[in-house]
Amino acid sequence: MPQFNENDLTAAVVKSFENTPDKRAKFLLQELVKSLHEYVRRTDLTFEEWEYAIDFLTRTGQKCTPIRQEFILLSDVMGVSMLVDAVNHREREGATQTTVLGPFYVGEHKEMPHGSDISPYNKTGDKMFVQSRVTDLKGKPLAGVPVDVWHADDDGFYDSQKADYATHGPSLRARFVTDADGRFSFRTILPCSYPIPTDGPVGDLITATQRHPMRPAHVHFLVKAEGYEPLITHVFLDGDQYLRSDVVFGVKDELVARVEPRNDAALPNGERVSGPWHLMTYEFQMKPGAGLVPRPMMAAE
Ligand SMILES: [Fe+2]
Repeated sequence: MPQFNENDLTAAVVKSFENTPDKRAKFLLQELVKSLHEYVRRTDLTFEEWEYAIDFLTRTGQKCTPIRQEFILLSDVMGVSMLVDAVNHREREGATQTTVLGPFYVGEHKEMPHGSDISPYNKTGDKMFVQSRVTDLKGKPLAGVPVDVWHADDDGFYDSQKADYATHGPSLRARFVTDADGRFSFRTILPCSYPIPTDGPVGDLITATQRHPMRPAHVHFLVKAEGYEPLITHVFLDGDQYLRSDVVFGVKDELVARVEPRNDAALPNGERVSGPWHLMTYEFQMKPGAGLVPRPMMAAE
């Protein structure tokens, strides 16, 4: 009968995974065991702390619903999401920078014609027109490329967080397909900085550690061009007070865009407009390759 002590135990558990047929799974599990054991040894973890951790993770799972992903949020605030992004995108010379997917890639991203208003129910936000283009690394336009966009409203909420989601369906989210010149555009409202959901265990963690829960204002983009690495990113609004302290560590300088205040009587697509509006212009450079494209939560097959 083997007698496992503090030091022999790790080797025994690592060995227990020795016959895992999938080599990558075996490697990941054995490294995970080593890291977890090292953490317990280094911190002299108490029974109370271990119990708290089990309870915290249990509550995190219980908070998840088909349209709420508390585990992605936990990964985001611990910097794990950005670290996975970083180790998978070490070489991006000339290509648009990536950032976290976040927990709000939800539901149907309905294809809409260029110039469409994706904020039809919002009556309070400042108007914004977004014009964009998708090219390869040499600036050649990529046509027929689907681009999913989503962002928070002027109260800092995504559609899926609001009570009227069931009746309104998706808003402030859509899909556009690039034209022959790689371009697409849409109308919307200016997003504002927002707190991540604080009514769950991740919010408890943020409060207990005296961190702030804010993310700087941004628009999410997911660009899926065939023959290119999927691009998951945000465009952040320059001047936001939380750009240097994003709670999920997602900001990169190259992703910050100046959003110009405008007073012209017509939008770039010729549509008449009254009052002031804002113009966001940003171009995406795609890197050749392939990769996993996430599916929105709750999306129909
Ligand atoms: Fe977001």
